[in-house]
Amino acid sequence: MLIPLILSGGSGTRLWPISRRNLPKQFLSLSGNRTLFQQTATRVMALDDVAAPIVVAAADHRFLAAEQLQELGINGASILLEPVARNTAPAIAVGAFQALKRDADALVLVLPADHLIGDEVSFSDAVAQARPAAIAGSLVTFGIRPDRPETGFGYIRRGDALDATTFRVAEFVEKPAQDVAQRYLDSGEYDWNSGMFLFRADRYLDELAEHAPAMLEAARAAFEKAHVDLDFIRLDAEAFAAATNDSIDYAVMEKTAHAAVVPVSCGWSDIGSWDALWMAADKDAQGNRLEGDVIALDTRGSLIRSHDRHLVATIGLDDVVIVTTPDATLVARRDRSQDVKKIVDQLKAAG
Ligand code: GDD
Ligand code: MG
Repeated sequence: MLIPLILSGGSGTRLWPISRRNLPKQFLSLSGNRTLFQQTATRVMALDDVAAPIVVAAADHRFLAAEQLQELGINGASILLEPVARNTAPAIAVGAFQALKRDADALVLVLPADHLIGDEVSFSDAVAQARPAAIAGSLVTFGIRPDRPETGFGYIRRGDALDATTFRVAEFVEKPAQDVAQRYLDSGEYDWNSGMFLFRADRYLDELAEHAPAMLEAARAAFEKAHVDLDFIRLDAEAFAAATNDSIDYAVMEKTAHAAVVPVSCGWSDIGSWDALWMAADKDAQGNRLEGDVIALDTRGSLIRSHDRHLVATIGLDDVVIVTTPDATLVARRDRSQDVKKIVDQLKAAG
């Protein structure tokens, strides 16, 4: 049985001021009329032979997740609620326990809720190609050809072929420094880790037992002591809080000897920042992405979103981001989009 595991616990701070603590980016329509979470769920439910998804989300976002699935007519999902965020490795662990409850041989397809995929056929082909290696016990990731020395991603060096479409991972490096990322890009030997994975649920837990045993036990306890509340499964707060805060990339993928990669070209993008959203968006002849009431005179390479009827007018600007909301406006150089996080940190510090 193929079970999608949708990770939607991120806080999306770099897309402030649209993305907020109570309404993070995955639950917003940033491109198209469905939210990123809904696009992910729709994409995955179109795969062959697929079971209802498991969603792991923050407890505060439970109604957003449930209502957005309901809107799509997706029934039978298991929604696991985290009392606190502990990053992706524990979230995937509790999802794997839930998958095993449904099927001892479950294959889990881990999907971040906040990615865009332009070519769904190539995506579903890649999932089918990854299946044999996953069934045989590999932790399979989907590799994307890099086009810039992005430091926010994991990098994978391809090793020997396992079959016609799947390779062993010779090396996995999460979020390398700038000069290292540049070297990897220049070498042509590395793919980006897309953050999507396919593996047997029991194999992931085996790997955690080997590389992060304390985290595994905390996740197990949080799952075993979980209680059902309406349509939700609430993980035990104390046990889950005790889990180490770490991502699957650092906790498992960098360490395992059983990683594999299926290279895929499916119009993938991680909508991590305003700059990434600009890159993925359809743009006009001036390279602008304009949404809402905007007049952009002699303006190029910019993303400008106006809220409601608020008219935004620009003259003679290049490569900027302007985003208005009822209570906040962001104006930034597009190449400084990553630093939006610093603004949010300042706001948090100020209470
Ligand atoms: N449930 C849950 N709980 N989900 C979480 C949590 C959590 O504590 N933290 C993050 N997520 C979700 C996010 O919402 C996102 O959908 C996904 O897990 C990945 O988390 P990110 O925080 O976005 O990771 P990243 O972008 O820094 O890095 C990962 O993705 C890159 C590609 O986009 C890594 O896998 C990299 O190796 C990869 O290149
Ligand atoms: Mg991300």
